[in-house]
Amino acid sequence: MNIERVMVIGAGQMGAGIAQVFAQAGLQVKLNDMNQEALDRGLSGIEKRMLRAVEKGKMTEEEQKESYSRLSGTTTLEAASDCDLVVEAVVENMEVKEKVFRKLDEVAAPHAILATNTSSLPITEIAAVTKRPDQVIGMHFMNPVPVMKLVEIIRAIQTSDETYQAIEEMTKKLSKTPVEVEDFPGFVSNRILMPMINEAIYTVYEGVATPEDVDTVMKLGMNHPMGPLTLADFIGLDTCLYIMEVLHEGFGDSKYRPCPLLRKYVKAGWLGKKSGRGFYSYE
Ligand code: CAA
Ligand code: NAD
Repeated sequence: MNIERVMVIGAGQMGAGIAQVFAQAGLQVKLNDMNQEALDRGLSGIEKRMLRAVEKGKMTEEEQKESYSRLSGTTTLEAASDCDLVVEAVVENMEVKEKVFRKLDEVAAPHAILATNTSSLPITEIAAVTKRPDQVIGMHFMNPVPVMKLVEIIRAIQTSDETYQAIEEMTKKLSKTPVEVEDFPGFVSNRILMPMINEAIYTVYEGVATPEDVDTVMKLGMNHPMGPLTLADFIGLDTCLYIMEVLHEGFGDSKYRPCPLLRKYVKAGWLGKKSGRGFYSYE
């Protein structure tokens, strides 16, 4: 299948990064957000990052202009009608995602593949709300998208081999490494990463060490590029909580219970870097 035109839904930190890598790989990209301000922020963030790459000599000015001109913004899902692939990256909430997929199924071209960047929600359940479940798949990028090399490709039970192969090929075209994963809670990445982050939060909650000291232990002791609490702030504490809830409910195992301190921070609106406050404060 030839994929030339792509729509990315959600212009937050993931959607904007995903749109950027598609545009840099030569595809025509529509970036969608329901919120005009978020869309403008997403597009200007992409431009800033591309200009920084030019300053660093990693991209020519001409390449930057060409890549950026392949991007356009939209606030309507109907704009997906001429796209070959749609990648959804809206908030990690099943109700919201199902609503988006129902609408996409109505408005997208019959041949279009509908992919989701969900961190943990069941792809099989998302596929089931459409009339093209064989063309629904998980395409899980890592944050920050322009830097991280991995894409987990998650097969719903209904996903066809043709859909899988098209997404695997697309991932390689983006110069990323695909890993095939079956549809179970948290897939591979977040089934392993998120309990570590949750445990780091418990360590702070129980007064064992400060956030700074927990992060120092993991950075200097285990050579992690970021400590787990800095990483949680970077991912977004709301997203971390959603993922822990999916693991807890999906496996029915108490080892995945979200730390009460994580719940409290999310209730307070302390969502990490994106809200200006989480385990750390951001100007
Ligand atoms: N967006 C785009 N590019 C970014 C960026 C961002 N938010 N932050 C940093 N970069 C780029 C920089 O521009 C720089 O690029 P060049 O090498 O081309 O100049 C490069 O990353 C390195 O940046 P810095 O030197 O400023 O900083 P660093 O060396 O500390 O690296 C980092 C920053 C790459 C983010 C590094 O700290 C890191 O790898 N952290 C861990 C990230 C991680 O674990 N991600 C996975 C999260 S889990 C997930 O995504 C799944 C999920 O479902 C929740
Ligand atoms: P975010 O909060 O930064 O952005 C979400 C964007 O979606 C917002 O701009 C919001 O306005 C928009 N939106 C919400 N509902 C919408 C709708 N119905 N139609 C169009 N736009 C809508 O979130 P994010 O961190 O970019 O995460 C997005 C998705 O990617 C989630 O499913 C998350 O689990 C997943 N993910 C996140 C990370 C991470 O590190 N943050 C990593 C991998 C995957």
